[in-house]
Amino acid sequence: MKLRNVIPQDIDLVFQWANDPDTRNQSYSSNLIPYEQHRSWFHQKIEEKIDWFIAEINEIPVGIIRFDKNQDQLKVNYSIDERWRGKGLGKEIISLALNHISLELERETTILGFVKKNNLASIKCFASNGFSQDEHDLESYVFRKVINND
Ligand SMILES: CC(C)(COP(=O)(O)OP(=O)(O)OC[C@H]1O[C@@H](n2cnc3c(N)ncnc32)[C@H](O)[C@@H]1OP(=O)(O)O)[C@@H](O)C(=O)NCCC(=O)NCCS
Repeated sequence: MKLRNVIPQDIDLVFQWANDPDTRNQSYSSNLIPYEQHRSWFHQKIEEKIDWFIAEINEIPVGIIRFDKNQDQLKVNYSIDERWRGKGLGKEIISLALNHISLELERETTILGFVKKNNLASIKCFASNGFSQDEHDLESYVFRKVINND
């Protein structure tokens, strides 16, 4: 698996993944996203110049991972294309992306992941990448990991 930056031409691929039924179910707002809403959100995220990567295997896009700035912390969101789930790629995309962003960090940074309690696959992906797990609210856990560029 290799990571590359998300580029403006990825707008439709990202739209398709954002409306994947499991991805919507595991999000805080489960409604389908209309294209116009997606377009403005997507361009805004591109302009924010956040760390946002598409994972590819033999140049086939298989997943996506994004780090939103949350004060001095980074909040991670990710998904794997449904045809590629259950093959260890969820674990791998988190691991690769953390290695990638840790190289550019100037100071220790906490990475946060919010996961619904019924999302067993995602819980395992964070746990196997060394995140600690706490209750966030009735419905979800928060996973935390501190990374630096050592
Ligand atoms: C969560 C997600 C990224 C996991 O990706 P994946 O590539 O299927 O995960 P992996 O293959 O790396 O599996 C990780 C672990 O979960 C287990 N697992 C996979 N699918 C599972 C499922 N449906 N139910 C229970 N466990 C599952 C795997 O067996 C593996 O367990 P192991 O550590 O014991 O080997 C993927 O299911 C997805 O894109 N879901 C929709 C979006 C989403 O939920 N994103 C995360 C929001 S926090």
